[in-house]
Amino acid sequence: MALLNLRTLPDPVLRQKARRVSKIDDSLQKLIDDMIDTMRDASGVGLAANQVGVLQRIVVIEIPEEDEVRVLINPEIVRREGERVVEEGCLSIPGYRGELTRSLKVRARALDRDGKPVRIKAEGLLAQALEHETDHINGTLYIDHLESPDKLWKLEPEQAGAQSEES
Ligand code: NI
Repeated sequence: MALLNLRTLPDPVLRQKARRVSKIDDSLQKLIDDMIDTMRDASGVGLAANQVGVLQRIVVIEIPEEDEVRVLINPEIVRREGERVVEEGCLSIPGYRGELTRSLKVRARALDRDGKPVRIKAEGLLAQALEHETDHINGTLYIDHLESPDKLWKLEPEQAGAQSEES
């Protein structure tokens, strides 16, 4: 197990577009394992490679109460449906939360860690995480989607440990 250094704002790597993965090899598998360890250590529901300083299109997502960790290589959202207002945080913007509009349902496609194509139909927290993480690999953060500055707030110190829905 290895924990990677979590990048936080204003690290410029969070604002860069990650490159498509063209080769799935042993070093990529090691990176994926370390990303999963790092996400779990931070109690996150998702993590994108940019957040550990790697500009490759790799995302891991683990929704609480699902016994599955999703590894998505070159993920793309192919369809969005409906809207809902959500509260969101990000491991790269510690101590803050925001309110923004996300899709009700999304469909995504990607490769799994073996390079096999996968399609995902998602709603709820999984849809939100898919949008949040695919944003990350394009250099976009949730704070870019806020309607106004007052939709971002700082957590009180006693709430700062409650990071279960950050990604
Ligand atoms: Ni994030």
